[in-house]
Amino acid sequence: MIEMEYKITSYCERDTATLAENLESEKFPNMVICLMGDLGSGKTIFTKAFAKATGIDEDITSPTFNIIKEYPNGELPLYHMDVYRLEDCKEDIGIEDYFDKGGVTIIEWADMIMDKLPDERLDIKIRVIDENTRIIKLIPYGKVYEDICEVIS
Ligand SMILES: Nc1ncnc2c1ncn2[C@@H]1O[C@H](COP(=O)(O)OP(=O)(O)O)[C@@H](O)[C@H]1O
Ligand SMILES: [Mg+2]
Repeated sequence: MIEMEYKITSYCERDTATLAENLESEKFPNMVICLMGDLGSGKTIFTKAFAKATGIDEDITSPTFNIIKEYPNGELPLYHMDVYRLEDCKEDIGIEDYFDKGGVTIIEWADMIMDKLPDERLDIKIRVIDENTRIIKLIPYGKVYEDICEVIS
């Protein structure tokens, strides 16, 4: 498979939120978005903007201590995962079960569970350049995600 890559520069929090909103408008059941980037790069900012655009009123907090939080009340259900602490957790929490439950899955620190990620997905790699600048790479796996990247980039 040829790996495509779309590079976007985000100059402020709002730019990252706008990217999330644009992706949200292309959402579909069983969409999987994998966020990768250091602490403070903007993974939760992205997720909050996506959730708000989906019509979720609740405040999205980082689910660091319970790994997965479900928000059922938007246009599609949202499953927000932060797998940073997963290595402490010995039991299998069934992450894969969420990928075909009909909602959208957004995974923070997805690079920590590469072996569990579905073949078809959108990877978003966020690199911190300075206080407000981020380089965001979109890497689609599968035709559906390639088409979405074409539309929004
Ligand atoms: N271009 C940008 N995109 C996203 N966040 C930014 C940007 N510039 C500055 N920030 C700040 O970086 C922080 C990102 O925090 P957060 O989304 O919680 O990071 P993460 O979830 O990746 O650890 C926020 O304080 C946000 O205001
Ligand atoms: Mg976070």
